[in-house]
Amino acid sequence: MTNPPVSDALVFFGISGDLAHKKIFPALYRMVKNGHLTIPVVGVASSKWTKDDLAARARDGITTFGGGIDDEDAFKKLMSMITYVDGNYNNNSTFATLKKALKGAKRPVHYLAIPPSLFGVVVAHLGDSGCAQDARVIIEKPFGRDLKSAQELNQVLHSVFPEENIFRIDHYLGKEAIQNILYFRFANSFLEPIWNRNIIRQVQITMAEDFGVEGRGKFYEEVGALRDVIQNHLLQTVALLAMEPPTGPGVDELRDAKEKVFRAMSTLNRDDIVRGQFIGYRDEDGVDPESDVETYAAVRLSIDSWRWAGVPFYVRAGKNMPETCTEVRIELHRPPQAVFSEFESMPHETNYIRFRMNPQVQTAIGARAKKPGEGFIGETIELMMTDDQCDDMTPYERLLGDAMHGENLLFAREDGVEAAWRVVDDVLVNHHKVIPYKAHTWGPNEAEALLNDADGWHDPVIE
Ligand code: BG6
Repeated sequence: MTNPPVSDALVFFGISGDLAHKKIFPALYRMVKNGHLTIPVVGVASSKWTKDDLAARARDGITTFGGGIDDEDAFKKLMSMITYVDGNYNNNSTFATLKKALKGAKRPVHYLAIPPSLFGVVVAHLGDSGCAQDARVIIEKPFGRDLKSAQELNQVLHSVFPEENIFRIDHYLGKEAIQNILYFRFANSFLEPIWNRNIIRQVQITMAEDFGVEGRGKFYEEVGALRDVIQNHLLQTVALLAMEPPTGPGVDELRDAKEKVFRAMSTLNRDDIVRGQFIGYRDEDGVDPESDVETYAAVRLSIDSWRWAGVPFYVRAGKNMPETCTEVRIELHRPPQAVFSEFESMPHETNYIRFRMNPQVQTAIGARAKKPGEGFIGETIELMMTDDQCDDMTPYERLLGDAMHGENLLFAREDGVEAAWRVVDDVLVNHHKVIPYKAHTWGPNEAEALLNDADGWHDPVIE
């Protein structure tokens, strides 16, 4: 099979926005530094910026959020590669100027880091202006607000771009930690015999953040935790954990396997979810003083398949938790028989596999081991298999690079995105009211009642 052609220009809609500032300028800088970005970049926004404004903003973003500039030449090179097009996304003239700025590029990639309400109009103008010819498009999340809007958005995109040229970003899929899970699952044969309902009793995923909405109150009011991180980042993680082995190394094999998991997930109902809101959220700028938007959500998912029937997948995410940490725990059944007298007092979750995704990338196995000395008294020990402190590549470097190369393994496919919306669609509107929780706690106690047994949620421990 021949490799897809590499894009010959990167067009960046929303270059003056928050995402550009925090994530994209640092990613582009690192890509230039590492020789991974050599094509011209055209930034588009409606901020009436000069080239100097753009350079100042890029410098600030890289310094504040990207670890700083340690290679002035790379920074200068990046700035020399960027041209800036100013204009309103509703005007034909903006796209005529863009076409000129593309200087005959034959296969540009258009990155839409703009509010979802503008996707439709920008895509239509790209089509009409001829800028979409043989081009790729990268779409930022959130991909729609619910199943219906995601389907409509897919239709808009398909009216101009074929599916293989559409790259739906879920930056979680670009994380080292996600790739670690995928690799660990399918590069080892010892896991397969235990990776099922006979051996696994439950799966817990916690995505905790020790900060609030950080000035993004207006945005957050539109989304809430369910739309912000559960429908996408965390359901994608569940799919990678639960999928059948792909039938081959190809992109479609992996995506087919993931899609089947989404299809087998039961649709959540109002008793499968506990929604919380940290006290103080309603005082944030842009937040309704009577807001019912959740800053915390815990859900109980089931996957109706031969492999997973009866195994609960518990997923929770919250702002203003005690720690910032994302962790997956796959817990195995306890031994079936009381061989040792401590059996009754032994915790249930003595055997587990733990994947930490943030702040470190860790893989560990929990086991019970005998304490030296008299009697059969044990303790839970953990075998740490990998413990990496950092990601060599940020998710955006990885994902932008892949999209430029037409490599869509780490992007969400249309059917997968829609199937994930189907899982949460009903509870987006049909739910109990939010329960207040104190900032820097693990959320409302009511979330304990979602669990089928008394062991409770496992709060990640940061050493
Ligand atoms: C984003 C959400 O998609 O992911 C944020 O909009 C969240 O609310 C962020 O904080 C978490 O991603 P990361 O990579 O910073 O852990």
